[in-house]
Amino acid sequence: MENSRKIDKVVNLAKRRGFIFPSSEIYGGLNSIYDYGPLGVELKKNVKKAWWDFMMARKDVVGLDSAILAHPRTWEASGHLDGFTDPLIDCKKCKNRFRADHLLEKKGLKPDFAKTKPMDMKDIKCPECGGELTDVRQFNLMFKTFMGPVEDSASQLYLRPETAQGIYTNFLNTKESMRMKMPFGIAQIGKAFRNEITTENFIFRMREFEQMEMQYFVHPDGKDDIFDTWKKLRKEWYLSLGLSKENLRFREHEPDELVHYASKAFDIEYNFGFSESEAGFKELEGIHDRGDWDLSRHQKFSGQKLIVKDDDNKDYTPHVVETSGGVDRATLAFLIDAYDEIEGGRTTTTKSVKDAEVVLRLDKRLAPIKIAVLPLSKKVELSKKSNEVYDSLVSKYRIRYDETGSIGKRYRRQDEIGTPYCVTIDFDTLENNQVTVRDRDTMEQDHVVIEELESYFAEKFN
Ligand code: GAP
Repeated sequence: MENSRKIDKVVNLAKRRGFIFPSSEIYGGLNSIYDYGPLGVELKKNVKKAWWDFMMARKDVVGLDSAILAHPRTWEASGHLDGFTDPLIDCKKCKNRFRADHLLEKKGLKPDFAKTKPMDMKDIKCPECGGELTDVRQFNLMFKTFMGPVEDSASQLYLRPETAQGIYTNFLNTKESMRMKMPFGIAQIGKAFRNEITTENFIFRMREFEQMEMQYFVHPDGKDDIFDTWKKLRKEWYLSLGLSKENLRFREHEPDELVHYASKAFDIEYNFGFSESEAGFKELEGIHDRGDWDLSRHQKFSGQKLIVKDDDNKDYTPHVVETSGGVDRATLAFLIDAYDEIEGGRTTTTKSVKDAEVVLRLDKRLAPIKIAVLPLSKKVELSKKSNEVYDSLVSKYRIRYDETGSIGKRYRRQDEIGTPYCVTIDFDTLENNQVTVRDRDTMEQDHVVIEELESYFAEKFN
């Protein structure tokens, strides 16, 4: 099935089956803020764990968890106070607000991102009502807040718009405490906040979201090879967790499109398939050459030396190759790619017209629930045995226990949320101590002695 046909189905499934809910829904929701439900929180944790394990498996990368709030000078130094803006435009008639570059792109025109001259919007009208549009203004995306009881400019802080800056301000602390040799990387996962002008496409563009970022500090010589290596590694990571090759691609940023800190940037794009009129491919992760922009600026603004020595004992400011992915965008991409609908169903049923069946073919490492325990009936003897099976596995795996509905319905319920294995306990189990394990993808069934279930699953999840 085309991804453009999947997206609405995924949004519907996400709400219905407890992956993602609109935030504050009982109050009418809060635009572009979402909450992760019981299955969503498991899936998102698994995405983050896969990324963290991938980074921490390397000898040259260490982790960090820096605060969301930082000294306000951080954002002067980083350039976000002056340069982290989007072009905003309003409709004079219906008062709707848009991103000027998005309106141009929708018309098939290429926006000119140079902030020194206004964007050429003369042929563009409001897409909602056809009304006349205002001039384009630059709008800073950082959320402001205040520290302490007085709300004045001296107490003003910002919610971080990227996690990267906490890595730069901890560069020396980390290098020295961990005795890291150049080149090395610092990885971090955490919340970021952007007061996006247009919020669209479910969890693709949110105002509160999570990033998984790694800053790799290098000598400027040889930086391009390191850049290419990270670019390749990051794409492979998505492939290794099940995204299909044809839905992933690289896109290099045009020089006028580069964000203020980057001298080279490639996006890993995924075919989210949002709308047939828009290009389905959109940014999933960015690989950026940030040069020595960040460390030099923090050096200048803080007065602290952020330098290292090269092999000839000469001082230099490290350059940075950054890999910057969105946890929420990755979660959405994995959901879309895994979504499969089988017209007419795939399980035997007595119904003459079979319903379409949904199977979420998530990688086992990402699946929110690993195993479902399904007693064939609610009879006490079966419940007792089934609870024993549940208790024997629950310390190692996230497990669901489900005893309501026909066994076919219960399989489908688990297929729809991506549970790789269902364990069925029936009356024969009471005699021979064997359970039936059903595979989500092949629907093949194995008969396994209860005492061997642990080693059986250890092999399956290895
Ligand atoms: N530190 C560099 C940086 O923040 P970016 O391209 O602005 O670069 C990196 O963001 C990633 O963060 C994006 O590729 C995307 O996955 C995620 N991201 C950015 N803005 C987002 C938003 N409003 N909602 C969800 N994810 C977002």
